[in-house]
Amino acid sequence: MHPKLSIPSAGVVLAIVALAAMAAEPLRFPDSERYTREAALRMARAAEGRLAPVYAPLAEQIVEDFGLREVEGIGIDLGSGPGDLVVELCRRTRLHWVNADINPHFFPIFLEKIERAGLAGRASAVFADAQALPFRDGWARVIVSRGSIPFWDDWKLALGEIHRVLAPGGVAFIGRGLPRDLPIEVARKVREGGSGPPYEPEEMERKLRAVLGEIGVRDYRIHRPRPAGGEGIRFGVWLEIHKADPTEVKDP
Ligand SMILES: C[S@@+](CC[C@H](N)C(=O)[O-])C[C@H]1O[C@@H](n2cnc3c(N)ncnc32)[C@H](O)[C@@H]1O
Repeated sequence: MHPKLSIPSAGVVLAIVALAAMAAEPLRFPDSERYTREAALRMARAAEGRLAPVYAPLAEQIVEDFGLREVEGIGIDLGSGPGDLVVELCRRTRLHWVNADINPHFFPIFLEKIERAGLAGRASAVFADAQALPFRDGWARVIVSRGSIPFWDDWKLALGEIHRVLAPGGVAFIGRGLPRDLPIEVARKVREGGSGPPYEPEEMERKLRAVLGEIGVRDYRIHRPRPAGGEGIRFGVWLEIHKADPTEVKDP
């Protein structure tokens, strides 16, 4: 016997379609009911506790890999939250860093942290939905993001926005997880405390490749760090995007 199927009314169908559309619609103004002060405080506590060992080695890795020590201009940390990664990036670069987050309840916490670290004037905070960035084309030399992508409803919009805002010759490093050289025992401890929304790394990589193909971004690499001895510990999935500089003269 088939279970009895009931056909939803036109009103119910319309409501479902409207809700789906709302979920995918980028935010132009803060929504304090969805992005709360409590959530910001919770994340700030995790960043100062369980996740604290992650940010300095991640900043070091980014700065080394992309040669950022002497670079000037704008760097954006998308979904930076309490901004612990920005503090470490300010310490290692000359860039002005922007904490671009959808939850402005983070900003007082972040700006106080910047001040306490003696970095006043080196960083700013801007309300931003990854899916509709309030920045002009080509503004940022670097865009980084850790642990925020699982919360973006529409990766096609967000990755398109990141590519648009990157300056020619710029680089983006977006993902979730840990720096590849984090000592295994430290990584194990960080992971024992939690790891964000569940996911399959293979599936995330497949989805990233599909989205990048759809938006025509071809110069990218996906990293899935699997250090020796770290079997069973999630180091995450990271995407590196380079934006071509048409004025760059290539060696013949
Ligand atoms: C798990 S926290 C990570 C915070 C920080 N990157 C870190 O590693 O400590 C996720 C962050 O992404 C932000 N976020 C979620 N959806 C976003 C969106 N659509 N656009 C920008 N930021 C978003 C949240 O407000 C939060 O700060």
